[in-house]
Amino acid sequence: MNRFTSVHDLINGPGLTQALQDARNVVAHPWNHEALGKHRTLGLLFMNPSLRTRMSTQKAANLLGMDTIVLNAGADSWTLETQDGVVMDGGTTEHIKEAAAVMGRYCDILGIRTFAGLTDREKDYNETILESFVRYAGVPVVSLESATRHPLQSFADLITIEEHKATARPKVVLTWAPHPKPLPQAVANSFAEWMLQAEVDLVIANPEGYDLSSDFVKGATVTHDQDAALDGAHFVYAKNWSSYEQYGQILSKDRAWTVTEDKMALTNNAKFMHCLPVRRNMIVSDGVLDGPASIVLDEAAHRVTAAQVVLMHMLKGLA
Ligand code: CP
Repeated sequence: MNRFTSVHDLINGPGLTQALQDARNVVAHPWNHEALGKHRTLGLLFMNPSLRTRMSTQKAANLLGMDTIVLNAGADSWTLETQDGVVMDGGTTEHIKEAAAVMGRYCDILGIRTFAGLTDREKDYNETILESFVRYAGVPVVSLESATRHPLQSFADLITIEEHKATARPKVVLTWAPHPKPLPQAVANSFAEWMLQAEVDLVIANPEGYDLSSDFVKGATVTHDQDAALDGAHFVYAKNWSSYEQYGQILSKDRAWTVTEDKMALTNNAKFMHCLPVRRNMIVSDGVLDGPASIVLDEAAHRVTAAQVVLMHMLKGLA
């Protein structure tokens, strides 16, 4: 596997069933592949803040015997230019072509964390930064979240659902919830994309004006009625996203969409999920987040599992 930017890379590589079996294996025997990454280096470039992705990916690399180099773009390194043919007389110092190629000379695998600008939909959905690294790095590239997807998060979410599910084909509800700032659609897009490949029934609930791109949700049931969506749910995945149609805009901060104990009472004893960081009493009430239904810490823990499985398959490809 020489790129991991969406679920399709795993499907076209080892396959989702094998990847989930690998996840169970690395949880049971985390150090079994310690020799695989010996004398290999993982470079991680972050273009925005991170707690979980930063720590879990380094931990996964460590379990595989790899060294890691972590850079914060613009703070530890130069500001990057992404446009081709531009006269670089502005604020950017280094072109992404050289930066990616140089990092590829130092590292065996690169992880790149970018974020949607939320002003230019076409630019965000073209994934200019991530795809430039894939094109110019000369080594395998892992997405640590991009403008439109967060595949390591979604893989961790799927592993967590597999671990907690009590029925063969659970009902999974992805629900929009309010947030004070405009956020990308990446986590929601990605979660929908992964769930549509999994053995689950996916329902997406969001207010009018918040429908996600049809590229990500084709095959899912989409409703604007959160209560109806929650009826009989086995898993509730809450997330805020800004409008895709009125790109990057906040159209609602309606706290009637906050996931509360009353909302969870509509479900079939559902587990509560969120990728974190989470705004308490905006996205979810304290009672739900601190209660027995919450499995957010398991999701965070499985970020290590997900990264370990992905890196393992990339390292095997290098051998
Ligand atoms: N869920 C997630 O990606 O967390 P961080 O932004 O802290 O990495």
